[in-house]
Formats: sequence, structure tokens, C-alpha cells
Amino acid sequence: MRIDILTVLPELLQSPLDHSIVKRARDKGLAEIHLHNLRDYTDDTYRSVDDYAFGGGAGMVMKPEPIARAIEKLQGERNYDEVIYTTPDGIPYKQPMANRLSTCQNLMILCGHYKGVDQRIRDHFITLEISIGDYVLSGGELAAVVITDSLVRLLPGVISDETSALTDSFQDGLLAPPVYTRPADFRGWKVPEVLLSGHAARIEEWRMQQAIKRTRERRPGLLGKE
Ligand code: ADE
Repeated sequence: MRIDILTVLPELLQSPLDHSIVKRARDKGLAEIHLHNLRDYTDDTYRSVDDYAFGGGAGMVMKPEPIARAIEKLQGERNYDEVIYTTPDGIPYKQPMANRLSTCQNLMILCGHYKGVDQRIRDHFITLEISIGDYVLSGGELAAVVITDSLVRLLPGVISDETSALTDSFQDGLLAPPVYTRPADFRGWKVPEVLLSGHAARIEEWRMQQAIKRTRERRPGLLGKE
């Protein structure tokens, strides 16, 4: 999978994409991630990427020209499955969308900034608008990192324990059950007996019950109950 990220702040994305699972995926050649600074696509001396909003009001708007230039250059080099825009008024991002996007070959992500991008870019270039939650971030970069991380960990071969990504919270519509490691007795706080029993079927049964209990208590909406 290849992901091209268009941003005015590439530095903000660098570190999270150079560590942990995303780094491993890149090192193994399973994910290619390229950052593009929108200022490199400006044509004025000030390399400006924003301008005042027509009609007035507080806040700047991302200019269409550098964005269109960057998107068209990349589209001239390969076909993109989706051109994504990160924005609080996008479609709420959930695991099924991550699963679908993880099967794509080439994705482009445009990070919103300031008051957002000129609407004409959204109308003519963007194929998918994503919100990662009902709160406002200072920019779409952190959302792009969240999306990228959630996709990359699903790529075959990225996570060493093959089943691990499949047992994540949400993959079966349930929250994940509690987990424990050694020592079995920590300050008198004991690990549930069943996990020490070595009885695979009983352990599986316990985990499923715990997942359902946790989901009922914390996120009843996931079980279709509010
Ligand atoms: N940009 C600012 N806030 C955002 C959010 N909640 N989701 C995606 N992009 C954003």
C-alpha cells in the first residue's frame, strides 16, 4: 500500500510515522508513506498556502491552487483509490472503514488546516471526507496519522502475531476483554483463575463473556442498545 499525505506541516507527521508498527511496515516494504509539503507547490515568493475568506469572518482558508497542483501531479503518476480529506464535518471514522481502506493500493490524504480548504477542492478532487471524532483538532495532520496507523496495522505481515489485529477491539463489533501478564499475584491482586488453567476452550469462553460485559457496560450502542 502507498499513502501520499499532503500537508502544510510535514514535521508534525514525521515522528509518529517513523516509529513502532508503522516504521516496521515501512522497513519491511509493506507500506510506502510519502509526505508532501504544500508550500512546495506554491508559486509566489511568500509560498503562501492560505488566504482570507470571501465574505469575511475569522480565520484563513487554504488556497486551491497549490492543492490542485499537488493532487494533479500525483494523479499523473498513479491511480488513487481515494483522495481523502480530513475534516470534522466528514464521515465518522470507524473500524469497517479502516478495514476497507486497508485493501486499497494507493491513497492520498489531504490534511485540512486553518478554517479548511476552498470548497472547490472538495467538490472536484476529494472522493472521501473523514472525521476521526466529534472534536476539533488544530489541523488534519493528527487525523491523517490516526488513519494511517489504523490502516497499516491491518496489512498482512505487518503485525507478527497474525491473529493480533483481528482480535482488536471493534473487529467483532465488541470491545476487547481485559488482559493480564505476570506475576499471577501482584500485591495480592490475582489474575482470574481461568486464565491460568491452560484450558483453551474455557479461556475463549471467558474472554467472550468479558468482551460482551465490557461492551454492555461501556458502549451499549455497539450492541444495538442505547
Ligand atoms: N481536523 C480537525 N478536526 C478534525 C477531526 N475531528 N477529524 C478529522 N480532521 C479534523
